[in-house]
Amino acid sequence: MTPLVDIRDLRVQFLVGDGAVQAVKGVSFAIPAGRTLALVGESGSGKTVISQTLMRILPQNAEITGGQVLFNDPAKPDDAPVDLVALPADGKKMRQIRGGSISIIFQEPMTSLSPLHTVGDQVGEALLLHRNCSKPEAKELTVEMLRLVGFPDPEKAWRAYPFELSGGLRQRAMISMALVCRPSLLIADEPTTALDVTIQAQILKLIADLQAELGMAVLMITHDLGVVANVAEDVVVMYHGEVMEQGGLRDIFGDPRHPYLKGLLAAVPRFDMKPGERLIPLREIKQDRSALKRPEREAWPEGADDRMLTIEHLTKTFSVRNKGWLARGSTQHLAVDDISFDVRRGECLGLVGESGCGKTTTSKMIMKALTPDSGTVTFNDRGTPVDIAALEGDKLFRLPPQGAVHLPGSLRIAEPAHDGVRHHLRAPGNPQDRHPCRTRRARHGTDASGWSGCAPSAPLSPTASPAGSVRGSALPAPWRWSPNC
Ligand SMILES: Nc1ncnc2c1ncn2[C@@H]1O[C@H](COP(=O)(O)OP(=O)(O)OP(=O)(O)O)[C@@H](O)[C@H]1O
Ligand SMILES: [Mg+2]
Repeated sequence: MTPLVDIRDLRVQFLVGDGAVQAVKGVSFAIPAGRTLALVGESGSGKTVISQTLMRILPQNAEITGGQVLFNDPAKPDDAPVDLVALPADGKKMRQIRGGSISIIFQEPMTSLSPLHTVGDQVGEALLLHRNCSKPEAKELTVEMLRLVGFPDPEKAWRAYPFELSGGLRQRAMISMALVCRPSLLIADEPTTALDVTIQAQILKLIADLQAELGMAVLMITHDLGVVANVAEDVVVMYHGEVMEQGGLRDIFGDPRHPYLKGLLAAVPRFDMKPGERLIPLREIKQDRSALKRPEREAWPEGADDRMLTIEHLTKTFSVRNKGWLARGSTQHLAVDDISFDVRRGECLGLVGESGCGKTTTSKMIMKALTPDSGTVTFNDRGTPVDIAALEGDKLFRLPPQGAVHLPGSLRIAEPAHDGVRHHLRAPGNPQDRHPCRTRRARHGTDASGWSGCAPSAPLSPTASPAGSVRGSALPAPWRWSPNC
C-alpha cells in the first residue's frame, strides 16, 4: 500500500560558525496512512529536525542537503506524490499542506498559542486560512472541536485566553488548533513530556480517540518508551541522525536487535526492578569532576546531626483574584498544607505528586523565594541549625549554597550555556557578591541547566524534560561527588 509519507535518504545540516552540524544523515522510513508511528531516540538524535522538515519550518541556518519527503494526499488520490522538500517553504502549496493536511503539536503549548488572542480566535484562524468558511461557520466548527477535545464548557473555552487555562487544557487547545482542519497527518513532538502522568494519560487517550474518529496518521515523537508501548503500532529508533532500527512495535520491543536499542530498553525503569537496582546508562559519560569539588573542607563534625534539611509543618496559601467582569474580591487557595520531611546527607529524596499539588511552591519556600505562612525550613550548616525563614539580606547569601532549582526556561536564549551557569552562581541582588566557585569551574559543570554549577547540598527537580538516557547520567552524580554536603 502507498504510504502517506515516504521519507527517502533525508539529509539535513545546520550551518554553525565556520562548520556544519549533520543533524539528519540519510534517514528513510515511511508513515502509513491512519497508523501511529513512534519516532524514538535520545536527545539530539534528530527527531525534531525531521518533524520540522516535514512541516518545512526548519530554522534559518538549516539546509536540506539531500533526499525526498513524498506526501500522498488522501484528499487527492489520483495526484502524483508531492515532494515536500522540493516545494518552496513559503509557497502557496506548502502553506496549504502546513496546518491543512499536516499539523503539529509541540511539548509546550505556550510556544504555539498567542497570549493576546482568545482560544476561539486562534483555533478558528486555521479554519479561515485553510477552509473556505465564513466567520459564523468557523465559530461553530471551533466550538465543536473544543467539545471534541474535552473542554467541559466549549463556549466558555472559545472566549478564554490561554493563560486562563491549566497546562492540560492548554494542550487540548493546541490539539484542537492542530486538528480543526482534519489533517491526514498529526505530528506530536513530545506532546506530554511537560505534563504529569494523569494528564499525560488523558492527552494520549484523546489523541488516540481523535485519530480513530478522524482517520489520521500520527507521528509520535518521544523519548519515553512507555508512551511508545502504549500508543505506537510502528517504531523507528534514531541515534545521532541515523535510523538504527525500525519495524512493528512487538518486533522492536520483543526482540531488539541493535545494541543501541537494547541499551535504550535497559536504561528505562521497569516494574520488576529489585530494591536498590540501578538503571544501566546507555554509555558511560566520563567527567572530570575534580574541578567541581569545593575547596578542601574538614570532615563532617563528629556526632553532628546528618539531616541536611528539615522541613516542619510548612504551609502556604495564595490569594487568587476572582475572575469575570463583575467578580470582586479573592479566594484563598491552600497550596501547601502542613508538610514535614527531612533530607539527610547524601540522600536523594523524591518529592512526587501531580500537577498543582505544591511541589514547586515547597521548593521555592526552601530557597526562600516564597515566605511560608507557617512552618520552618532548617538547614544544617555543619552541625549548626540555621532557620532559613529567619535569614535576611546578606546572611541568606553567605550560607553555603543549599539548593538549586531547575526550571525548563532557566537558560537564556542569548547566552552560551557556560554563561548561563555563571549567571546561576551570582548571588541575587548584588552582582559583586559571587559564590566562591569560579566560572572556569562552572564550565566543567555545564549540564544544560546550570544546577550542578556550585555543588548544592540539595539540587531540586532537575530532569523534567531530558530524555531517559540523559536523565540516567545526570541524576546520581551530584549526590556522590560532594561527600562533605
Ligand atoms: N537551530 C539549530 N542550530 C544548530 N544546530 C541545531 C539547531 N537545531 C538543532 N540542532 C542540532 O541538530 C541535532 C538534532 O536536534 P533535534 O532537536 O532534532 O534533536 P531531538 O532528537 O529532537 O532531541 P530532543 O529529544 O532533545 O528534543 C542536534 O545535534 C542539535 O544540536
Ligand atoms: Mg526534539
